[in-house]
Amino acid sequence: MSALPHWSSDDPSSAATVQFLPPEPTTDASPRRPASSAATRHRPIIRIEGLSKSYVAGENVLDGISLHVAPGSIHGIIGRSGAGKSTLVRCLNRLETPSAGQIEIDGQDITRLHGAALRQARRSIGMVFQHFNLLSSRTAAGNVALPLELAGHSAAQIRQRVPELLALVGLAHKADAYPVELSGGQKQRVGIARALALEPRILLSDEATSALDPETTEQTLQLLKRINQRLGLTIVLISHEMEVVRDIASHVTVLEHGRVIESGPTYDVFAFPQTPTARRFLSSIVAHDLPEALASRIQPQPAPGSAPAIRLVLAHAAASMPVIALLHQHFGIQARILHGRVDTIGGQPLGVLTLALPHADVRLDEVLAWLRQPGLHTEFLGHAL
Ligand SMILES: Nc1ncnc2c1ncn2[C@@H]1O[C@H](COP(=O)(O)OP(=O)(O)O)[C@@H](O)[C@H]1O
Ligand SMILES: [Mg+2]
Repeated sequence: MSALPHWSSDDPSSAATVQFLPPEPTTDASPRRPASSAATRHRPIIRIEGLSKSYVAGENVLDGISLHVAPGSIHGIIGRSGAGKSTLVRCLNRLETPSAGQIEIDGQDITRLHGAALRQARRSIGMVFQHFNLLSSRTAAGNVALPLELAGHSAAQIRQRVPELLALVGLAHKADAYPVELSGGQKQRVGIARALALEPRILLSDEATSALDPETTEQTLQLLKRINQRLGLTIVLISHEMEVVRDIASHVTVLEHGRVIESGPTYDVFAFPQTPTARRFLSSIVAHDLPEALASRIQPQPAPGSAPAIRLVLAHAAASMPVIALLHQHFGIQARILHGRVDTIGGQPLGVLTLALPHADVRLDEVLAWLRQPGLHTEFLGHAL
C-alpha cells in the first residue's frame, strides 16, 4: 500500500468532511459453504431420502427430509421444540412408521422391514433418552443386562459383558446401585451403557443432556465423544441446545417445521448460516444478529455523528487476525466494537464482530475491498448512530 490514508477526528462536527462513500456491492452476503467433505466421500451410514411423517392427514410433521450421515461422525440435529426432531429419531428406530420416503441404515432399507427382521435391525440401533428410562426395580447392572437378556444372550455372556460396559462409562463401582441411588449424570451413563450393550451400528441420543446441569452435560458429552472415538460409533445427537452440538458434533443439520433448513460441517454452519432462521437460532452462540437496541441504531443513510458499521466473520485462520490493529495501521481507522463474540466451535475459534468505523479520509469501498481476505467475511450494515 502506498500512501496510508490519514486519520481525521471523529468529532461529530467534522462529519461533513467524511469521505466514506456508500459501498460498492459488498462482499457476498452469504458465501456458499464449502461442500462437505467427510460426509460425501464415504457411503453414508444413514441415508434418509424424502422422509415425511404425518400424524394427522394433511399435516406433515416431517416434510421431505433428505439427510446423509457419514460413518464415524457425530451428527447433531438441532431445532426448536416442535421442529420434528423426536419424530425423526422415532422414524430412524422405526418406533414410528414414515408416511413417505426411505431410510437406509448401513445399506439396509429399514422402512420395508417387519416382524423379526425389524426387531433384528432395531438391535443395531442404540437409543439414549432424555429421562433415562431405567427400570427402578433393577440395579445399574440389571438395567444394562436387560437388552442382552431380551436378545437371548447366555448368563455367562451377560456376566462378562455387563462389567465391561459399566467400566466403559466409568460406573464399575455402581453396578449394584438402584436408579434412586444414582445422580442424573450417573443414570444417564447407565442409559448409555445399556444402549451400547448390543454393539449397535449407530447410537441415537434424543436430548440426552437436557435434564442435566451444565457440568454433568459437559461430562456426558465428553463420554459420548470418547465412545465415538474409541468404538468408531456413529452418533446422531438430537438437541435443542446449540452448546451441545457446538462442543462435539462434526456435522449439524438444522430442522424447522419438519424441514432441513441447513446441513453441513458444524463449523461452517455456525460461521455461515444460509437462512435467517438458522442465523437467529445460532445467535445464542455466534453473534450473527445484533441485539434489537443496537440494530435500531443502524440506519441506511449517514447522519451527523454516524459511523459506518460492518459485521466481520473471522473464520479459520482469520480468527486470529489482529483486525482492529490492522485497520488502524492500514487506514488510520480507530474501529469501535459495537458487538461481538469469539467462540470455539469444534475446537476452532470463530469470531463475529460488529464494528463502527469512525470517520477517516478513506473510502469505505477500499476498506471493504481490503477486508476481502481468506476466512474473513465482511458485510456492510449501514450507519451507526
Ligand atoms: N404421537 C403424536 N401424535 C400427534 N402429534 C405428534 C405426535 N408426536 C409429535 N407430534 C407433533 O409433531 C410435532 C413435532 O414434534 P416432535 O417431533 O416431538 O418435535 P421436537 O422433538 O423437535 O420437539 C409437534 O407439533 C408435535 O405436537
Ligand atoms: Mg423432542
